[in-house]
Amino acid sequence: MTRDLSPIAAGMENTLIKICLINGDGVGREVVPAAAEVLAALGLGLEFAEAHAGFEYFKRSGEAIPDATLADVEGCRVALFGATSSPSTRVDGYRSPILALRQAFDLYANLRPVQSLPGKFSRPNLDLLIVRENTEGLYAGRERLDGDTAIAERVITRRGSTRIVTTAFDQARRRTAYNAGAGHTCTAPPRSVQCRCQQAVTVVHKANVLKVTDGLFRECALEVARDYPEIPLKEILVDAMAMRLVRDPESFDVIVTTNLFGDILSDEASALIGGLGVAPSANIGERVAVFEPVHGSAPDIAGQGLANPIGAILSAALLLDHIGQAAQAARVQQAVHATVKQGVLTQDLGGRAVTKEVTRAVIKNL
Ligand code: NAI
Ligand code: MG
Repeated sequence: MTRDLSPIAAGMENTLIKICLINGDGVGREVVPAAAEVLAALGLGLEFAEAHAGFEYFKRSGEAIPDATLADVEGCRVALFGATSSPSTRVDGYRSPILALRQAFDLYANLRPVQSLPGKFSRPNLDLLIVRENTEGLYAGRERLDGDTAIAERVITRRGSTRIVTTAFDQARRRTAYNAGAGHTCTAPPRSVQCRCQQAVTVVHKANVLKVTDGLFRECALEVARDYPEIPLKEILVDAMAMRLVRDPESFDVIVTTNLFGDILSDEASALIGGLGVAPSANIGERVAVFEPVHGSAPDIAGQGLANPIGAILSAALLLDHIGQAAQAARVQQAVHATVKQGVLTQDLGGRAVTKEVTRAVIKNL
């Protein structure tokens, strides 16, 4: 089952929806077309606009992401992004296009749901949401070399922290309302921190060491929590969280954290449900939202038609939620589950199917 991850983008309910498709590099060129095929098969009359970005495009044109792409994303207000390659060494004029998109449109909330899939590669009973701050922290791009010393500045602001924690609590509220139908089903007292029927927000930080930056993040979390008295706030240090995610991930609901911690923890969490190939995400701003699988361009398997399209297809489902099509989002998610149950799996999940076979099966299961 899927649930609304974001409020319906204002004014998008009844307008013709055009989705900007940015394939990017590597497997992005395989999984975005697969997800677009699934969207088209819903018969909603969705329109698509294809736009360029990425390292291959940069080598041809000298630009990582051209203004035309930014204009298309702004015009469409929703985009499906594959992945782009970013070399680990500096290349003059090149900057990761997804970071550029996040900053250009202030896509401050990165929502990364981790939900069990019905296969033996996935842990059962998992339904958590990682809410990652997406515009500041160590990804603010403030790095410099001072002689033989390399310095990165970690930017944490009150505004950025407050709005991301608010997003996390709003998501928890929405999830609680969604879960309300199930009633109280665990043995702990209702509304207690131990209760598994009540959504809690867990703030993840390292304020014991990063006393100023994460100290501020933590302080903002405690402040925002006061406005949501019905939702317990838990806190945990990031290193302990990395362990708990492996040991008892079922005890978490909504997790909110800073940019780099969220990036790392969400890749870790994806391993619980089958790996990077199945993990979806949403980058949400006030006006624009960009949906993308969590994985990168996977150069080791790119160009062979072997990529798992599920992460991209589930990202398309998040996009449907965002534009007010929750029922269609659920339809896509159920079709993915049916496909997994049938054992139509790519090699990363232990199967032999290729991208096109999985995509075809999902469409058949719609
Ligand atoms: P990666 O996510 O591309 O690959 C990690 C591992 O997961 C590889 O073994 C790959 O084969 C596998 N994998 C990834 N997606 C898969 C899929 N759909 N189906 C099956 N297996 C899949 O991460 P890596 O190797 O660290 O980075 C490769 C490139 O991607 C780098 O240039 C990096 O900068 C870029 N990258 C881009 C991102 C983005 O555009 N949002 C995010 C992460 C990395
Ligand atoms: Mg990552």
